[in-house]
Amino acid sequence: MDDRVLLITGASRGLGAATARRAAAAGFRLSLVSRNADSLAPLVEEFGPDTAMAVGADVTDWTQISGAVDATVRRFGRLDAAFANAGLMLPVSFFGTGGADPESWRDMVLTNVHGPAITARAALPALARTAGHLVLTGSVAGRGIRPAPASLYSATKWAVTGLAGAIRAEAVGTGVRVTLIQPGLVDTEMITDEQRAKPTLEPDDIARAVCFALDQPPSVDVNEIVVRPTGQDPER
Ligand SMILES: NC(=O)c1ccc[n+]([C@@H]2O[C@H](COP(=O)([O-])OP(=O)(O)OC[C@H]3O[C@@H](n4cnc5c(N)ncnc54)[C@H](OP(=O)(O)O)[C@@H]3O)[C@@H](O)[C@H]2O)c1
Repeated sequence: MDDRVLLITGASRGLGAATARRAAAAGFRLSLVSRNADSLAPLVEEFGPDTAMAVGADVTDWTQISGAVDATVRRFGRLDAAFANAGLMLPVSFFGTGGADPESWRDMVLTNVHGPAITARAALPALARTAGHLVLTGSVAGRGIRPAPASLYSATKWAVTGLAGAIRAEAVGTGVRVTLIQPGLVDTEMITDEQRAKPTLEPDDIARAVCFALDQPPSVDVNEIVVRPTGQDPER
């Protein structure tokens, strides 16, 4: 049994919910974060109120995400790991040939870049006290240039790649570990039907990778894990 405490953003579905299930089975106590706390209620019921708490917080809002970390430490007494996972994908064309309205691009940049940055800032003081672990969800799109419609999404995930390295550099001497998970295509609500027709991973495939990193001894810092479905074009 494990009594470590893990906070997960984007916990209500997809990769976050799958990781919550696997971590709960391993004995973690969980702080589950998404904008809509009601959507987290079924998971809290599934794991039980002694194991899991739900916090409605927007990762783009410093007051809300730092409040979520504070509430977690108040409830469970400590924070051992944070999974900065919340993200969204909007289609973009820089030539204006379709895709989302430029006014909405800000939401994706804030959620995918500002979100994990301030989630890290909120969690790291508590993680430093436990020689804890920060895990960030990047993407294989943060390793290579992607054409429209995934171009700006790809740029946000390049930023997450840089963020993980920058935080790891600042963490030297603190005992805190930083893991960047870079999934290929995963069958969640985020992907389109056209993408779903291609080889895809299941969310639990990424949950296993997250738990692998979390299960290493304190002396082992798994820096990066790249997981693609078998048959995914490495350039896509
Ligand atoms: N699916 C893929 O193929 C794939 C591949 C590589 C990387 N990723 C990355 O994996 C992560 C999870 O994606 P997913 O596929 O599991 O997506 P998903 O099924 O759409 O889940 C997204 C989660 O993020 C939450 N969320 C969105 N915006 C938020 C915000 N501003 N504040 C707090 N929570 C927010 C959502 O809940 P609420 O709506 O209730 O807030 C939901 O729980 C993302 O970072 C994504 O970029 C996905």
